[in-house]
Amino acid sequence: MFDAGTGCLVVVGAQWGDEGKGKLVDVLAERADVVVRYQGGANAGHTVVIGDSQFILRQIPSGILHPGVVCVVGNGVVLEPETFFGELDELAKRGIDTTGRIWVSDRAHLVLPYHKLLDLASEKSQKLGTTGRGIGPAYEDKYGRRGIRVTDLRRLECARAMLAERVERANRLLELMGSVERASFEEHLALLERLAPRLVPLSADAGLIVHRAVREGRRVLLEGAQGSLLDVDHGTYPYVTSSNTTAGGAAVGAGIGPTLIHHVLGVVKAYTTRVGNGPLPTEAPGPEGEQLRQLGGEFGAVTGRPRRCGWFDATVVRYAARVNGLTGLAVTKLDVLDSFAEIPVCIGYSLPDGLCDEMPAEVELLGQVRPRYDVLPGWQRPTGSARRLSELPDEARAYLDRLEALSGVPVRYVSVGTRRDQIIEVAGGEG
Ligand code: IMP
Repeated sequence: MFDAGTGCLVVVGAQWGDEGKGKLVDVLAERADVVVRYQGGANAGHTVVIGDSQFILRQIPSGILHPGVVCVVGNGVVLEPETFFGELDELAKRGIDTTGRIWVSDRAHLVLPYHKLLDLASEKSQKLGTTGRGIGPAYEDKYGRRGIRVTDLRRLECARAMLAERVERANRLLELMGSVERASFEEHLALLERLAPRLVPLSADAGLIVHRAVREGRRVLLEGAQGSLLDVDHGTYPYVTSSNTTAGGAAVGAGIGPTLIHHVLGVVKAYTTRVGNGPLPTEAPGPEGEQLRQLGGEFGAVTGRPRRCGWFDATVVRYAARVNGLTGLAVTKLDVLDSFAEIPVCIGYSLPDGLCDEMPAEVELLGQVRPRYDVLPGWQRPTGSARRLSELPDEARAYLDRLEALSGVPVRYVSVGTRRDQIIEVAGGEG
């Protein structure tokens, strides 16, 4: 499904994020030549487990863990430079050589400490449950045409003047928002002066790198962050992140044309989770939700917040299949359901005046829907050692068949544990 000369593969989350994209990208990156992050920032936390080590990557594509794979941070990303270099240093400490194989788009915008102050101040009035990493304010500056980009660090004198104006503006906003915090120009300047000599040599026209790689027939993987229901256009607005997490955003954020994208793999958990505020129709707030949380280790990789847990929601995944043009599904964490005697699957919603089988635009309406469930028998046996579909219990296979039929997208991968090798690749066709 991911062969040389066949264009790019995009991997997106098809729920509310945390679907296990990190592991999927890690597995697929073994066959990739180039891996690109195309949106989001340090709000993403991709967890990859290799042997006994756990890596949480926020800014660097998870492909970096494979020797020889070139990693690109695309123009659509908002880059928090300190986190980025912290990760590079941590990788070096663990013996992973990144020399010559990490590039940052010169068009990517920077997330600076004043963005974080604004994010936290804004949460006091508009409680969205953000990660507090300054993502929203950084994208606001980008679209307000006052962002500071990686390329600006090439001319520090210019960056200095921009910075003075931006910090002053941020402080005016903080005051208006009733925050006592203030950003310091000197501290920001010192940060840029310290980071520029390290960042500038890694900056490049990333779109050109990706374009050439595809044209030369190399395998290019575009790695999404967050999930489709957090997309600023298609998600549960306003409880969304500030970028286009869906596959369309991959072309824009990697700096290539959409005709270079040939496959879109949607990653879904075998159940559903969400962090932050906003509706989650299939949320199981009782002991079953707690069981999913404990068994699945459902605590945020960035913030440590407990994730809200519930059952698989086919309305969500059908919608994600449509807005992303999914060509394949990867179902993760099937093993988390091993102990359940019965597993509800949401097949659609009801409202007082009838059925509702498409995602409503109004978040209030989504908050009022009642899920219609099919209850499937559980398998109550461990699945973690299965490496083929035929090694799964019949009930688990029937469960996957049901997800596939309800979503309308073929299942290409099934993950049955956190380790790299705990994956089933389903034979046949493209993904
Ligand atoms: P922000 O992206 O920090 O602005 O947060 C906006 C919303 O997206 C909040 O509900 C966050 O919890 C959610 N969010 C952001 N990044 C992630 C992620 O990587 N996984 C899951 N949820 C996320």
